[in-house]
Amino acid sequence: MRDLDESNITAAVIDSFKATSDPRLKQIVTSLVGHLHDFVRDVELSFDEWRFAVDFLTRTGHMCTATRQEFILLSDTLGVSMLVDAINHRMPDSATQTTVLGPFYVENPPELPHGSDVSHGQAGEPLFVEGIVKSAEGAVLADAVVDIWHTDTDGFYDVQRGDLDRPTFRARFRTNAAGYFQFWSIVPSIYPIPDDGPVGDLLGATGRHPYRPMHVHFMISAPGHEMLITHVFSSDSDYLDSDAVFGVKNALIADFIPQQPGVAPDGRVMAQNWRKLRYDFGLKALESVAA
Ligand code: BEZ
Ligand code: FE
Repeated sequence: MRDLDESNITAAVIDSFKATSDPRLKQIVTSLVGHLHDFVRDVELSFDEWRFAVDFLTRTGHMCTATRQEFILLSDTLGVSMLVDAINHRMPDSATQTTVLGPFYVENPPELPHGSDVSHGQAGEPLFVEGIVKSAEGAVLADAVVDIWHTDTDGFYDVQRGDLDRPTFRARFRTNAAGYFQFWSIVPSIYPIPDDGPVGDLLGATGRHPYRPMHVHFMISAPGHEMLITHVFSSDSDYLDSDAVFGVKNALIADFIPQQPGVAPDGRVMAQNWRKLRYDFGLKALESVAA
């Protein structure tokens, strides 16, 4: 292992991992070194660029806190999160498509009764959301846990605001015997992903915008089924074709249907315009492990 140059260093580095006993780890480090060296050769990386990359990754690490994960944001904006999602969720057509989790999920949101208003009086156009959770085979799933979260009308999640004294625009519902759930909120907004760090610098330097189209997040779990992490996007939103994190799928776009004042499906009398979103979900059964 001497006199290594650009023609033989890759093989030497790969060979240095030959004693790796875990076959999957060996496969990963071998492939990683091969692709990384090919990339450096391909662009003929300069020393300044190498130093810039080290500084970029260092700044990305320093940006991370308990509530800010800049590396996941980098993965999201490079399309890696959605690629990993696609590889790991090869769904039957009848199962709901998946998309990114995002950084604004808070574990164990407050469980509320059907029909609750998760906006807790915050201003905005009222939105009634209802749906049925089924298995991919079409059987209704009772007692499924449905966590939802979304932004306010200005594009901020509750955790980004300092003025709210309880979880808002987020909650947990449990489906009834018919697999059904419903709740009220307000229509969310498009919003920029956090772009005040190195990921934002990268977007800016490459002429990309940081916006995501209007959506409501859903995380749905039911015994015997894969957890579903997804969003439903509004069909009249901007940025459906240029989501900063590449998360939009046609099957996840739905109409947030404008409604006139009148009586809503749950009997609530609406004095103002409101919107209705109906979306049914299909959960893939867990693969049974052979005995
Ligand atoms: C979100 O939808 O909450 C989100 C997803 C990825 C990056 C930033 C935000
Ligand atoms: Fe979001």
